[in-house]
Amino acid sequence: MNYRHGYHAGNFADVLKHAALCELVRLLSSKDKKLFVLDTHAGAGGYDLGGELAARTGEAEAGIARLAAAPRDGMPAAVVRYLDAVTAYDRKFGPAVAGGGPRRYPGSPRLIRAALRPGDRFVACELHPGDALALKREFAGDRAVEVRQADGYHVLKAVLPPVERRGLVLIDPPFEAADEFERLARAVRHGLRRFATGCYAIWYPIKDEAASAAFVAELKAPRLLVMKLRVGGETGTGKLAACGLAVINPPWRFEEAMAEALPWIATALGGRASVVASPASAPAPASPS
Ligand SMILES: C[S@@+](CC[C@H](N)C(=O)[O-])C[C@H]1O[C@@H](n2cnc3c(N)ncnc32)[C@H](O)[C@@H]1O
Repeated sequence: MNYRHGYHAGNFADVLKHAALCELVRLLSSKDKKLFVLDTHAGAGGYDLGGELAARTGEAEAGIARLAAAPRDGMPAAVVRYLDAVTAYDRKFGPAVAGGGPRRYPGSPRLIRAALRPGDRFVACELHPGDALALKREFAGDRAVEVRQADGYHVLKAVLPPVERRGLVLIDPPFEAADEFERLARAVRHGLRRFATGCYAIWYPIKDEAASAAFVAELKAPRLLVMKLRVGGETGTGKLAACGLAVINPPWRFEEAMAEALPWIATALGGRASVVASPASAPAPASPS
């Protein structure tokens, strides 16, 4: 396990994933019913963008720093909410740096936790011993969060369906293993068999369009929304230039919010984006589910 998310925190891929994640948790918790959230690959929880790992790649500069510097005039509401969540986390560590983006960046567990209500439940899994320890420290004493140093795919099998019967599963693997796409698709199919009404958000890299399209087809989900963000050309420079987020069973109004937010984000980051409901997708329910 060589992957450390600290090298990539706040990059364009995090911006897509985290803007969507904030919106998912917000919409799913807008109903007066308890919510369960599982983050299968949670990372360290929070990242120092001025620290050694982030400084080595500088990826956040083309991601969250660029978005944070964009004028708020005309900014879609979902983007404002995401930036507010990032700022709220950053402010815990000190005042804003004049003219700069955030110094501390929240990972998915922090963004999820910030949106939970009393009584909601959150399980965060991280396998890397160092990052799992950091994650445990991040949530020490917080009884709403259960941090497990465990394989997120195994935990997914163990905890679904949740007693709440209303849940979000974020699956965000590092794609170090050659068979990650297969493993991920198997985990999603297994999850859907056990918890068909759950909302699943699945992040994936796009290095080869045909391979990633084949992966999305493998998910075989009746209600699927696929969002893609590309910030570089199609021909490989070795650096990740495009990624996707597939959302199964998106909540009411999610597609609308992302269709407004994502093109705006893409423009701010100098890239391009798409939001497409899968052709096989049944129409979204006309009223909140
Ligand atoms: C892309 S990062 C997660 C980033 C995080 N979800 C976020 O958005 O802030 C993937 C993480 O999964 C961890 N990991 C790798 N294999 C795992 C597994 N089988 N189960 C749980 N975590 C795993 C890695 O150590 C890494 O921290």
